[in-house]
Amino acid sequence: MGEASPPTSPKDHLLAFSGDPNKPRRHFRVKDVADLPDQEREALYRDIQNQLQSGYAISGDPTAKHYQRWKRANTAPYRSATHGRRFVSNFVNAKAMAYLQYEKAGTLPVGAIIAKDSFVAAKDGTLTPGPLFVMEKMAKGFSYVSGDWRYAMIMPDGSLFGETNGENAGRVEFCIGCHLAQEKQDHIYFVPKKYRIQ
Ligand code: HEC
Repeated sequence: MGEASPPTSPKDHLLAFSGDPNKPRRHFRVKDVADLPDQEREALYRDIQNQLQSGYAISGDPTAKHYQRWKRANTAPYRSATHGRRFVSNFVNAKAMAYLQYEKAGTLPVGAIIAKDSFVAAKDGTLTPGPLFVMEKMAKGFSYVSGDWRYAMIMPDGSLFGETNGENAGRVEFCIGCHLAQEKQDHIYFVPKKYRIQ
């Protein structure tokens, strides 16, 4: 799982993408992190990636422990309006590889898992971990309304916020509700076109 990255201060982040803040060049003031070039947002992600992974892993959940070794479906973190406006990345396990065919994916098989990690980036460059959003395809009959997907949300400290048909299931009903609009595509929305791995 790699080594933990050294702690980075907001100033380090500024330095990373602007040079010395006392000699401002470009991006000295970042109006909105979403406006940064992909490659700079990707650098922010690299700074917080290990911290995300180790926090989620405290849950003991196998997905939370391993998802970063799976195939990533997006080229750079993008802001997800529907997941708390956080910057997100999506990973798919071996059974969910069809996800990368996007609209042609069809119905994913039992055992397919898609994991979406998230973080918040403040204007001063401070990064804060966000939850891990998980969809796992369960056996037929698990839940008609969710298309047999189990939705789960794992907090950055490894606590489980809720999961379909499990602990605090009511808290993740809103996931089912919104993803249901994509019923004809197995409840999947897919990564925005601009950020897809081809
Ligand atoms: C208001 C609508 C909405 C809600 C609520 C919502 N999602 Fe999503 N979800 C989306 C959209 C749109 C995408 C694709 C774009 C993106 O990543 O932002 C997506 C993508 C995903 C993906 C990647 C698979 C895919 O569909 O492409 C996962 C995993 C996911 N959501 C999990 C969750 C979980 C877990 C919850 C609840 C805790 C949740 N979502 C709540 C709209 C929603």
